[in-house]
Amino acid sequence: DDIITRMKNIDLIELGKHRIKPWYFAPYPQEMVNLSCIYICEFCLKYKKSRKCLERHLVKCNLRHPPGNEIYRKENVSFFEIDGRKNKVYAQNLCLLAKLFLDHKTLYYDTDPFLFYVMTIFDSRGFHIVGYFSKEKESTEDYNVACILTMPPYQRKGYGKLLIEFSYELSKFEGKTGSPEKPLSDLGLLSYRSYWAQTILEILISMKPVGDNEKPQITIKHDVVLLGSEICELTSIKKEDVISTLQNLNLINYYKGQYIITLNQEIMQSHKKAMETRVVRIDPKCLHWTPKD
Ligand code: COA
Ligand code: NA
Repeated sequence: DDIITRMKNIDLIELGKHRIKPWYFAPYPQEMVNLSCIYICEFCLKYKKSRKCLERHLVKCNLRHPPGNEIYRKENVSFFEIDGRKNKVYAQNLCLLAKLFLDHKTLYYDTDPFLFYVMTIFDSRGFHIVGYFSKEKESTEDYNVACILTMPPYQRKGYGKLLIEFSYELSKFEGKTGSPEKPLSDLGLLSYRSYWAQTILEILISMKPVGDNEKPQITIKHDVVLLGSEICELTSIKKEDVISTLQNLNLINYYKGQYIITLNQEIMQSHKKAMETRVVRIDPKCLHWTPKD
C-alpha cells in the first residue's frame, strides 16, 4: 500500500438524489477516475461515466430495491439479505462504494464468503440505501460484522446504531455472541462504544436493583462474573466487550470484600437523555429470518 495507490481518486459520486464527496481511495476501473462525477444507480449500484449513461441504464434497470430477500420491515425501514456468491456483481459494487468511506479495510474481491445486510428507507420511488454491514458466513473468531457503513448523507442520525442493533439481533437469533471485526475505525469504535454502553445500561437499570434507593445511587450487588454472562446472553454482546464497557463506564467497584456494580444518579440521567434520541429501534417481531445450518 504505497501513498499513490491510497490517494483519493474519485471527486464526487451521484447516488439517487444525493451528491457525495468520497473520503478515500477505491479501486474503480481506470476509465472511471478523473471524471468530475461518477453516477451510480442507487438500486443495483452499477456505476456510469455520465448522467446520460445512467439515464439509459435506468430505462432498463427494473430494480427498485436491493437484490436478495427482504428479511425485515417496520414502517419505512427494511433490511435486505444479499448473498455475496449469488449476487456477486451487486456485492462487489457495494464493496467498491463502501471503500470510498473506509480507510483501512482491505477490499474483498471475493465476496463469496460474505452476506450483506442492506438497510433501506422506503418512499414512493423505491427502497433507498441508507447503509449496510457485511458478515462472514462462517467466522472462526465470532465476528458478527465485517464492514459497516452509513452513507454520509444519513450519518449522525442514529442509523449506525440501528445497523449495529440489527447485527446483534441476528446473533440473538443464532444463539451466539458476536463482535465487530478489528480494527475498527475511530467512528466505528465511537458508535460501538455508545451502543454497548446504552444496551448494557438499559439491562442493568431494568434488573431489580438490590440496595438503598433512598440514596442518590442504586447499587446492584451481584457477582460481577455472573452478571457479565447474564448480560452476554441477553444482548449477544461478546464477553470482552461487556467487561470493557463496564470498566469504561466505571461501574465496577470493590466494596466490603466484593465487586459490585454501582449506578449513580448522574449516569442514569445521562442514559435516560441519550435513550430519548433513539426513536427508531429494531423490532425483533419484524425480523423474518432463520440462520443457515
Ligand atoms: N463525530 C463524533 N461522534 C460521532 C461521529 C462523528 N463524526 N459520528 C458518529 N458519532 C457518534 C455519535 O455521536 C453516536 O454516539 P451518541 O449517540 O452516543 O452520541 C454514535 O457515534 C453513533 O452515531 P450514529 O448516528 O448511530 O452513527 P452513524 O449513522 O453516523 O454511523 C458509522 C456510524 C461508523 C457507521 C459511520 O460513521 C460510517 O459509516 N463511517 C465510515 C465507515 C466506518 O468507519 N465504518 C466502521 C469501521 S468498518
Ligand atoms: Na468493521
